[in-house]
Amino acid sequence: MVGLRSRALDVIDAGPEHAEAIVDIIRRSFGARQALDPPSSAMDETPESVAAVLETAGGLLVERRGEPMGALLFDESRPDKLGLRRVSVDPDLQARGVASAMVGVAEDTAEERGKDGIWLHVREELPDTIQFWARRKYYPVSQDGPLIEFGKTLWLAREVPTPEDMHDLAGRVATLVRGGDLLVLSGDLGAGKTTFTQGLGAALDVRGPVTSPTFVLARTHPSLSGGPPLVHVDAYRLGGPEELDDIDLDATTDEAVTVVEWGAGMAEQLSDSWLSVTIEVRGARPVDPLGTPVDDEVAEDAEPRVVTIKPHGPRWVHVPLRSTLLA
Ligand SMILES: Nc1ncnc2c1ncn2[C@@H]1O[C@H](COP(=O)(O)OP(=O)(O)OP(=O)(O)O)[C@@H](O)[C@H]1O
Ligand SMILES: [Mg+2]
Repeated sequence: MVGLRSRALDVIDAGPEHAEAIVDIIRRSFGARQALDPPSSAMDETPESVAAVLETAGGLLVERRGEPMGALLFDESRPDKLGLRRVSVDPDLQARGVASAMVGVAEDTAEERGKDGIWLHVREELPDTIQFWARRKYYPVSQDGPLIEFGKTLWLAREVPTPEDMHDLAGRVATLVRGGDLLVLSGDLGAGKTTFTQGLGAALDVRGPVTSPTFVLARTHPSLSGGPPLVHVDAYRLGGPEELDDIDLDATTDEAVTVVEWGAGMAEQLSDSWLSVTIEVRGARPVDPLGTPVDDEVAEDAEPRVVTIKPHGPRWVHVPLRSTLLA
């Protein structure tokens, strides 16, 4: 059993032995809500029904000094995503970080279980609950009667040892994007932003070459095979967000895959959804005790990078980032 301390809160990986405590929290939490029509089936949970879920999918119990304060149950009915059910906080203890601590550990659990994201249902009659999830970047994806489904895609970071690996990663990203998508690339001079864009352009089969834009701020590479064009923007020389407006990207972003180097803090205004790709240079490539590179297959200039990819906005909710980009 793993316990995780967070502001004196214990978030416990719950098993069937916690069923009684969890049913109690669920009943108190759901019982304190406004009356809903139809009522939530949470009130029908029993120690047996909860123990059965804990036995298979698991759940979390939050305690402070041994006092139960919050709980949730996991739902494993979808292979690629972890479901959260019966998210409950003691009604006398709302807004004390219990729910946030639980959600943080739930997201770690989804990652540990190899999931791409998280889903859950929220009743449309509960605006505070809707706001709670929206603030944590969960987005509504569908509605069935009074139940709104919210989803979140998990971010990822991975090592990229060589420029070829950067091309490979970009090629995998290419399988996930479509016309209208926006990618914002960050990283120091020479980090590999253009190298990434070249890999993306090759995989999207657009007319090349994709180079470092110098005088031109934005270049459009038409597709050679009926797919979306690639619009490659270098915002390094832009004075500010207003100048991004001047190059009139709005006209193209509907159909194109748009990649903006140095666009962090600027390009986001173009769309409610974007993918941020951050490239960090992490030291030299591995060497043996004599200073000889361990992998002599690797080209001279290869230096490991760490690439962090984070989804922003509703567009990415059903996109399998981790399983496609980490495999
Ligand atoms: N692991 C790696 N991934 C990507 N590029 C690498 C890696 N190792 C070495 N390189 C080299 O680093 C250089 C990256 O240059 P690139 O033009 O892609 O960077 P950039 O981030 O676009 O720079 P700028 O800020 O000037 O636009 C290339 O010469 C590439 O071969
Ligand atoms: Mg560049």
